[in-house]
Amino acid sequence: MKKAIAAIVLAGIMRAAAGTPSAHSAVGDQTASTTAPLLAEQAFKNIQALKGISAADFMGTMGIMTAALGFDCSECHIAAGTDKVDWAADTPRKVIARRMVNMVAAINQNNFGGRQLVTCWTCHRGRDKPVVTPTLDAVYGMPALEPDDLVMASVAGLPKPDEIIDKYLQALGGERQLANITSFTATGTSIGFGGFGGGGAVQIYAKAPDQRSTIIEFKDAPGRDASVRSYDGKGGWMKTPLTVLGEYRLSGSELDGAKLDAQLAFPSQIKRVLTNLRTLQPATIEDRDVDVVQGNGPGRLFATLYFDKQTGLLTRMVRYGTSPIGRLPTQVDYADYRDVNGVKLPFRFTFAWLDGRDAFQLKDVRINVPIDAAKFGRPTSLEAK
Ligand code: HEC
Ligand code: HEC
Repeated sequence: MKKAIAAIVLAGIMRAAAGTPSAHSAVGDQTASTTAPLLAEQAFKNIQALKGISAADFMGTMGIMTAALGFDCSECHIAAGTDKVDWAADTPRKVIARRMVNMVAAINQNNFGGRQLVTCWTCHRGRDKPVVTPTLDAVYGMPALEPDDLVMASVAGLPKPDEIIDKYLQALGGERQLANITSFTATGTSIGFGGFGGGGAVQIYAKAPDQRSTIIEFKDAPGRDASVRSYDGKGGWMKTPLTVLGEYRLSGSELDGAKLDAQLAFPSQIKRVLTNLRTLQPATIEDRDVDVVQGNGPGRLFATLYFDKQTGLLTRMVRYGTSPIGRLPTQVDYADYRDVNGVKLPFRFTFAWLDGRDAFQLKDVRINVPIDAAKFGRPTSLEAK
């Protein structure tokens, strides 16, 4: 049976989280005292297949496995979701999954010149046992409506990426107007997927060209720590108190992603930030036609941007990080653009990644206000007194 993947992923992580106070503080202490990225094999006890990647990107691979098989963490890990969880212990499924990691690497190496064309998702598609034989109902029934996967090259005959981006900048208020914005702060509310973290109070700080932080405080849940993502132009932090890693310094794909998010908060620099821009086949998002532009971001990251054909505004950004077993997608959907000092800003956006999803609604946005540098630093120094 195919299950509701997203719900399972998240429930798995939240439950996993509930049972890991010790793992989480141990990892937190280690990251706090080092500047080098913490590798998976340093953070954890029994890593054999997925060595050499950051602990955070390793957690991304757990998200890929969970999503690809339609599992939750407890289907491979003993007692995940309880305080008796033993992440390091091998289970029969964990052993198979490890073998599959090596199998996937070998398939790609031996057949596709090392390009990552086969992933867990290619075969599993949200089920534990991949389907082997087409049913005749599928052959003669409705065609599957799944869109093609990412195209990585321009499609001929479409508007140039620069034209689409210029139209976007125009729709926001024009390049000159945008260039005048050097910082902003915002307050609002957030709701986690499935109601988790409902009623979070949000603060966002952003400073050109590339500093940004998001702080979510849970005032209705006494004792629950704030969630924080911060990036100060060089380094970044993530604090998600209810997950395995707790608080840690960003590295790998997540660091590149934080940088891109910070840069895209100031859209006038978009053509500098994304390189090798290409126009892809137009698409539709919720019944609206969109132009699609893709570019390479910081590090090995790349991003696909979707612009409403009618309004010219950005409605979606998906950025892709890398891992040994497949890309790590993060998606931001934007809506409710409103005018602030002559430029348009999205007052509603949804941030979705393999570990969860938060929906934000901004209430108050202020432009060009001074921001204390500490706001972009390590989360512990950011929390409200
Ligand atoms: C399909 C099976 C599978 C699922 C589902 C899965 N894992 Fe894993 N997990 C593994 C494998 C395999 C390893 C060991 C990887 C290696 O050897 O490189 C591992 C290792 C880990 C470790 C390191 C433990 C240690 O100390 O060595 C943690 C932490 C972890 N997983 C957390 C999670 C979380 C959280 C989830 C749910 C989001 C999850 N896993 C879902 C297969 C799985
Ligand atoms: C080329 C296709 C293919 C790819 C790619 C693939 N698998 Fe599998 N996987 C299978 C098949 C087929 C089975 C069923 C084997 C059986 O029934 O003996 C399976 C079974 C499994 C199982 C056991 C499930 C159960 O409970 O019976 C796990 C766990 C698993 N795969 C994990 C993964 C992970 C993690 C990845 C990505 C790193 C992956 N697989 C990639 C084909 C694939």
